[in-house]
Amino acid sequence: DKAGHKHFMAKEIAEQPRVLADAMAHYLRPEGGVVLPEPGIDFASIDRLTLVACGTAFYACNVAKYWFEQIARLPVEIDVASEFRYREPPVAPRSAALFVSQSGETADTLAALRYMQGKAETVLSVVNVTESSIARESDIALPILAGAEIGVASTKAFTCQLLVLGTLALEAARQRGTLGAEELARLEAGLRALPGLIHQGLTVEAECQRISRQLAEARDILFLGRGRMYPLALEGALKLKEISYIHAEAYASGELKHGPIALIDEHVPVVVIAPHDELFDKTVSNMQEVMARGGKVLLVTDAKGAEVAGEGVWEQIVLPEIDPFWAPVLYAVPAQMLAYHTAVSKGTDVDQPRNLAKSVTVE
Ligand code: M6R
Repeated sequence: DKAGHKHFMAKEIAEQPRVLADAMAHYLRPEGGVVLPEPGIDFASIDRLTLVACGTAFYACNVAKYWFEQIARLPVEIDVASEFRYREPPVAPRSAALFVSQSGETADTLAALRYMQGKAETVLSVVNVTESSIARESDIALPILAGAEIGVASTKAFTCQLLVLGTLALEAARQRGTLGAEELARLEAGLRALPGLIHQGLTVEAECQRISRQLAEARDILFLGRGRMYPLALEGALKLKEISYIHAEAYASGELKHGPIALIDEHVPVVVIAPHDELFDKTVSNMQEVMARGGKVLLVTDAKGAEVAGEGVWEQIVLPEIDPFWAPVLYAVPAQMLAYHTAVSKGTDVDQPRNLAKSVTVE
């Protein structure tokens, strides 16, 4: 049932405020603090966390690496499951491993999990389907509570994965004593604000739709992001290529000069995903480099960023102001909508793109 939407993907994008609120009610106590399933997770007893997944779930792990390292000072290793499983990496003592999968049945992720059984202190999973193999075979399975996701392009599962991973990062920071009480409370309040902010964020849809008609004409599109927004550039490019079949590539903004800038001309739109955060000025100089070569910049930012970025930007999408720490969750919304409307403009099969399966159960 598409609940009045043209596609499951549109329905699933629109559902995000509600499912995020549901997941939050499950993991956060109304009076403050995090609730985890028994026997709980002892973050103070580990020195390393390994995050493994495929596709969009892997990009959620990329964001989580920034979160855990920044606030819990916990070294995080990330890898795609297909590389991790055959690399047979040595496992340091006092390590935990966490596998992220919407379906819980992805063959490579399951194989990577089995490799870590008996090697890591704890094997955790973050899954949507709680009866899945990955959930069953982990010591602790954390549900994302996104509800069934039908569209092949993952949307609400991504933001709910981020919510659960963000909650874990907060809990890790509390247990490890790496943040003061005030800072912890401030970040927890920011986390709680997410469903409301995503609800407001959905109002950029008309803008996304209008801009997407122009993106649909492009042959190649570049996505740039920096720091914790770099994974959002990766996710935006994946979403776009998967359903619109337009070639899209993502780079960390600072890598622009090291190669991809050679691609820039007036035919290549460059989507810059950059809230006004501590690295914004650096991103502005990258944008200027693109514009100086005739490149068309679509800047996805907030009101402050739009003001500072100034003249010369081709298009802008302006999102509500948010604590930059949690911005990756909100900025997923325009990334999803740009892909969705570009695909609709091109008339492709949005919910079941060619050559793709919802769950990749063979390698
Ligand atoms: O079910 P999983 O989360 O393990 O699936 C992983 C990827 O196959 C999946 O995220 C894929 O990249 C999506 N189609 C992206 O939209």
